[in-house]
Amino acid sequence: MLNIAVFVSGRGSNFKAVYDKVSKEKIKFCAVVSDRTDCHAINFAREKSIPVFFIGKKNQGEFVDFNFLIDQLKVLSVNFILLAGFLKKIPDQFVDTFENRIINIHPALLPSFGGKGMYGLNVHKAVLDSHVQESGATIHFVDKIYDNGKIILQKKVDISDAVSAEEIASRVLKIEHEILPFVVDKFADNKIKIENDKVIILD
Ligand code: GRF
Repeated sequence: MLNIAVFVSGRGSNFKAVYDKVSKEKIKFCAVVSDRTDCHAINFAREKSIPVFFIGKKNQGEFVDFNFLIDQLKVLSVNFILLAGFLKKIPDQFVDTFENRIINIHPALLPSFGGKGMYGLNVHKAVLDSHVQESGATIHFVDKIYDNGKIILQKKVDISDAVSAEEIASRVLKIEHEILPFVVDKFADNKIKIENDKVIILD
């Protein structure tokens, strides 16, 4: 069983796409973690009765710190972490705890247009300003450096006629909603391997 914790900071459309599309026989949504208490993604988690954790710098009020969170996720038998629009940096200790079990979706073709500050519309504005003809989405493992882990899957989209960052965002988002559930299902089927430092997706 893939026991997932989904990390979110906002709208949560990728979380919803994954929740709606993946095989519930093999995947359990054990927790949703957010740095914000008032986002759409949290409302969705509550509708689906998924336990919610708010992450902060220390255990205070409704917030917990990463050490406490690790313990809670262990209690819930979480074995897979999906970052779907989570804006905070994941601490090194958390990365070590879930080594090769944390993935992220990025709304551009990494290694271009990634790194610190490259989130939300910033990414699509940079893409627009660079006049590239294609953008896309990248799903990658999370390591200790922003947007740096091994690439699992990328899909491109033609943006040669796009006139705004918003338009690029919307084309890319459509792709994100296709490839993220696909990849999560592949993890549930144990069909994602790392061989010679390269990620292989088996049929
Ligand atoms: C997506 O574009 C994702 O690639 C990026 O943050 C955005 C989150 O959107 N990491 P949503 O919250 O899933 O709607």
